[in-house]
Amino acid sequence: MKILVTGGAGFIGSHLVDRLLERNNRVVCVDNFILGRREHLKDAMENPNFSLHELDLLELDKLDELFDQENFDAVFHLAANSDIRAGTESTERDLKLTFMTSYHVLECMQRYDVKKILFASTGAIFGDREERLKEESVALPESLYGASKLASEAFIYAFSGLYDIQAWICRFPNVVGDRSTHGIIFDLLEKLDGDPANLEVLGDGKQSKPYMYVHELIQALLYIFENADEKINVFNIGPSDQTSVAEIAQLVLEGYGAKQEIMYTGGTQGWKGDVPRYEYDTQKLQKLGWGPPTTSFEAVRLAVRKVIETR
Ligand SMILES: NC(=O)c1ccc[n+]([C@@H]2O[C@H](COP(=O)([O-])OP(=O)(O)OC[C@H]3O[C@@H](n4cnc5c(N)ncnc54)[C@H](O)[C@@H]3O)[C@@H](O)[C@H]2O)c1
Repeated sequence: MKILVTGGAGFIGSHLVDRLLERNNRVVCVDNFILGRREHLKDAMENPNFSLHELDLLELDKLDELFDQENFDAVFHLAANSDIRAGTESTERDLKLTFMTSYHVLECMQRYDVKKILFASTGAIFGDREERLKEESVALPESLYGASKLASEAFIYAFSGLYDIQAWICRFPNVVGDRSTHGIIFDLLEKLDGDPANLEVLGDGKQSKPYMYVHELIQALLYIFENADEKINVFNIGPSDQTSVAEIAQLVLEGYGAKQEIMYTGGTQGWKGDVPRYEYDTQKLQKLGWGPPTTSFEAVRLAVRKVIETR
């Protein structure tokens, strides 16, 4: 298959590019490098089945030209604003980077008759909910990031019906692992580098979410893409347990070899717009035949080690 991966120089996108190339696909990556890194694509650049286009998805004309030149079989759309906190400081950031990028991808798919899209969605669409979240649970996002992902899902539904596009909407949990350039493990390590005397942790440490190692997430995405065959396939992906921020801070301190006191800033939310806890119901994915080999806690432990080794 010839697959367009948007955001392919990012943390998750670059791992996805590597796995797709291993499976002998032809992969075209688009990234504008606002958050992605060229070194993530070091191995891919040596593969003749790979090409990289430094392009901003907000420039519709340029994206149109690319779709015109290439004959894509599918799009894996991962480009977005992954800096959720930055998206609470500017109300435009997620509208453009998380929603308009999706709209432009769909618009070009419609123009050039590309029939398959896998979309990187998120638990942030649901907001702060008490229940274990099923695929059909009511979504009430608290961040503009969550709202923009939910709006992208809605556009995918409408484009799918109007232009006969098959869609795989995958709601990721918190993803951890090597090549991450953001997220809690990365942030805590940066803080320790800056002030090895204290470790400041946002919130009360009780925020608790499901974490998955990036390689397992990619396995899940490819499994869903290859095995779910409805017109629109929606899946919540994650382990069945959660890990608290306090547990993660402790694992980071141990991994860093530091003995600092952890200073919690207090409050139930890490920052405005943060969802302090969520739990996925992943029965639908299990019925399809896939469950993650490791728990959330093990994923975090492994990621702390890998991020420290590779930074
Ligand atoms: N990391 C997580 O825990 C997590 C959780 C849920 C969902 N997701 C979703 O998975 C996807 C990948 O996340 P990630 O953690 O790898 O983030 P990332 O920031 O590493 O990757 C996103 C990539 O998109 C690129 N990009 C952004 N705007 C662009 C634009 N206008 N044009 C071209 N490229 C653009 C960035 O440069 C970056 O390389 C995102 O859609 C994110 O919302 C991630």
